[in-house]
Amino acid sequence: MTDARQGDWVKVEIDAGVMTLTLARPEKKNALSNAMYGVLADSLEAAEKDPAVRVVIFQADGDSFTAGNDLQDFAAQATGAFTGERHVIRFLKALANATRPLVAAVHGQAVGVGTTMLLHCDLVYVTPDARLTVPFVNLALVPEAASSWLLPARIGHARAYAMFALGEAIDGGTAVAWGIANGSAELSDLRARARAAADQLAKKPLGALTTTKRLMRDAEKIAALMDTEGALFGERLKTAEAREAFMAFMERRPPDFSKVS
Ligand code: COA
Repeated sequence: MTDARQGDWVKVEIDAGVMTLTLARPEKKNALSNAMYGVLADSLEAAEKDPAVRVVIFQADGDSFTAGNDLQDFAAQATGAFTGERHVIRFLKALANATRPLVAAVHGQAVGVGTTMLLHCDLVYVTPDARLTVPFVNLALVPEAASSWLLPARIGHARAYAMFALGEAIDGGTAVAWGIANGSAELSDLRARARAAADQLAKKPLGALTTTKRLMRDAEKIAALMDTEGALFGERLKTAEAREAFMAFMERRPPDFSKVS
């Protein structure tokens, strides 16, 4: 089955037990709009109820996995121009609550949620030149997706702090060495590598996979932390610091926080 929701820039395919979610907004580096989060959340929620889906793959068209949250959407939220449901919250909850194994194929830029979502994936494959960043502080924001705990737990406080606060990037090889990714593959092999792993998982007993995953994750702690982070993130979005960061990106200039904090 293929359901290409062009307006929402996410392609959804289900084939031989594997749901593939392809980010398809390459002209904007797959920046995630509210509508895209909505499709991702709907798809993950549907996967949980669909016996035809045993594994979910995330991958992306174009030269990047994703440039993270759409900064125009952030700017609209910062000024109060946006008042609808923020589907990102539903997407993050669906990621955290997914019982199906999640596999990611990551190339190019993986900014913000593009990296933090990997902490909820079970198998991650990256290209050697992938560039993973979580520049929340540069945007006057705070970590999300429970990454304030999951990232330091995975790679240690010192490395996580440098990524969050200095915006330091890591490449695919480092992501493998630090335990964020399982392995690296050249771009031409990346999707096949992820698909082969997903096909293997699709043949495993789903009950055992589900219970193993549940045992390996502290779901209550993750949910509580997402709520705490989400409240702080929402507050920070409305600060003068954040407005300056978003304006600077759109005006293609460095931010000047000395004026606002
Ligand atoms: N939101 C909205 N649009 C974005 C975007 C985002 N997060 N990231 C990139 N784009 C857009 C750019 O505005 C540009 O649009 P234009 O061609 O209409 O001007 C297009 O995507 C290409 O981006 P560009 O910056 O020219 O590409 P690059 O290769 O020089 O840099 C990035 C790529 C990802 C390093 C850079 O775009 C970037 O830093 N983006 C912001 C990332 C970010 O802070 N995300 C939020 C994390 S919480």
